[in-house]
Parts: sequence; C-alpha cells; structure tokens
Amino acid sequence: MSELRPDKLRECGIDPERVPAHIAIIMDGNGRWASHRGLPRLEGHRRGYKTVDRVVRLAGEFGIKALTLYTFSAENWRRPRSEISGIMKLIASAAHQELRKLMDEGVQLRLSGRTDDLPDFVRQALLDDVRRTQDNTGLILNLAINYGGRGELVDAFRQIALRVQRGELSPDDIDERTIAASLYQPGLPDPDLLIRTAGEMRISNFLLWQIAYAELHVTHVLWPDFGEEDLLKAIADYQSRVRKFGGVVNSPGQDLASAAAPDLSPAPSIS
Ligand code: IPE
Ligand code: IPE
Ligand code: MG
Repeated sequence: MSELRPDKLRECGIDPERVPAHIAIIMDGNGRWASHRGLPRLEGHRRGYKTVDRVVRLAGEFGIKALTLYTFSAENWRRPRSEISGIMKLIASAAHQELRKLMDEGVQLRLSGRTDDLPDFVRQALLDDVRRTQDNTGLILNLAINYGGRGELVDAFRQIALRVQRGELSPDDIDERTIAASLYQPGLPDPDLLIRTAGEMRISNFLLWQIAYAELHVTHVLWPDFGEEDLLKAIADYQSRVRKFGGVVNSPGQDLASAAAPDLSPAPSIS
C-alpha cells in the first residue's frame, strides 16, 4: 500500500482531510510534447505512460480514493492507424508490466468504456489486471478506454429501456439515481476535481453526467511533463474553491467544500 504523505500536503498549504475523493484527468498534450522536440507522436504517448505511473503513485500517497484517467476516447479512432496501433500496444504492454506495481501499491483497476470493441490482446491484458487487482483496497484506478460520455449515456438508457420492457421498472420510477446506477462505474462517486492538461478549455465527451458539479482545473503543462508540483497545485486550487451545489454561502468564509449534496449526488460513497 502507498505510504501517505500528509506533511507534503501541509507544506503546500493543503488540508490532508479535504483532498478530493475522486479526481478525473483529461491527459492531453502527448502529441504536442513530441512535436516540440521533433519526435514522433508515439514518443509523446510513451512518455505519457510514465506520467500515468507517477500520478497513480502520487494519488495514493496524497490519500485520493479514486482516479479516473481519460486514456483513449471513442473519437480517438479517427487518428492515423499507426498512431492507434501504437497506443493499443502501449496500453497492453503497460497492463502487463505494471501489474506488480499495482499489486504493491494496493491499486484496484477498473475500466469505463466500450471495452468489448477493443482489440483482443488489449482487452485481455486489461481484464486480467482488473481480475487480479479486484481485492486490492487502495486507490481505485478507473481507466476510461474507448470511452465517450454520450455513448455511456446511450448504453445506460438502453439498459434502463430493457428493464422497462421486461416489466421490472416503471418509467415513473426513473430518476437521477436510476441513471447514475446504470453508468459504467456506478459505485464511484462523481469526480470532485477535473484536471485537463495542455490548456484546452473543453470537455471532449468525458464523463458528461458525472462532472455536473466537478471543480475544473486546466493547466498548460503538457501531460508528459505533469508532475508532483502540478498535482499539488491542482489540489490546492480545488481547496480554494467554495462548493455550493446550487445553494448559497450564509456567512463569509463558510466552506461548503465538504458539504454533501445528498439529493444530487447519486453515488456518495465509494464501493
Ligand atoms: C492525449 O494526447 C493522448 C490521447 C488522446 C490518446 P494527444 O495525443 O491528444 O496530444 P495532442 O493534443 O495532440 O498534443
Ligand atoms: C481527449 O483528448 C481524449 C483523451 C485525453 C484520451 P483529445 O486530444 O482527443 O481531445 P480533442 O480532440 O482535443 O478534443
Ligand atoms: Mg489532444
């Protein structure tokens, strides 16, 4: 299991008791990192996987409960075949090589996305890690692969429609909880903090349902360069926000960051 580092957090003005439970990251900028150096884009992706390693370790050390990483979007199939096949090989080889580290750090791997449509060798490698790490009790690492937020909602609505068709569910009983419970990872609470690297101010079809009240942090740092200081800055930025969930702050300085929004937050605890 990862050793917690509350002192490092305090040193940066961060309250270790109020770190975000769930961080989601749009890991962008691998291509730009490579092209700035005159290297092939795939070299950027290779370096990007080293950053994943680093950030998974840091998240465990900082007491984050869940980390969702946008690894390959449903739209990324539009890229050149050679880049796609390079990325797929990198994912499969990382799944093989990182298993020992996942076990040592107590990380539990989960997947979000249409994983059935991945090449066999990638799906098998990932599912093998999911199975072997399922009893780990440390950080939950949720990889969004062949993931699209709209596709996730389509898949959820299809599931719900089938339950209605079978007479198990009445349309009148469908509420936000029904939809949240039909998403790819219903046991995960919504992300508290969404980080995007490489500066683009967009969501790119990531976690459309779950980020309704996430705090957003966009940094110009390219994903291969993203390190400890950048993660600490993002967490400090998160802690500087007043989360209101549509309510009001009654007295100056009142901090609602830890206030739950029980009626809106469909999956408040990690399971
Ligand atoms: C993110 O980096 C990795 C994936 C989308 C797979 P990019 O490859 O999108 O990097 P840029 O945006 O071209 O710099
Ligand atoms: C989002 O990055 C997808 C991942 C990080 C896996 P993109 O680079 O694909 O997003 P766009 O094309 O800039 O919106
Ligand atoms: Mg990009």
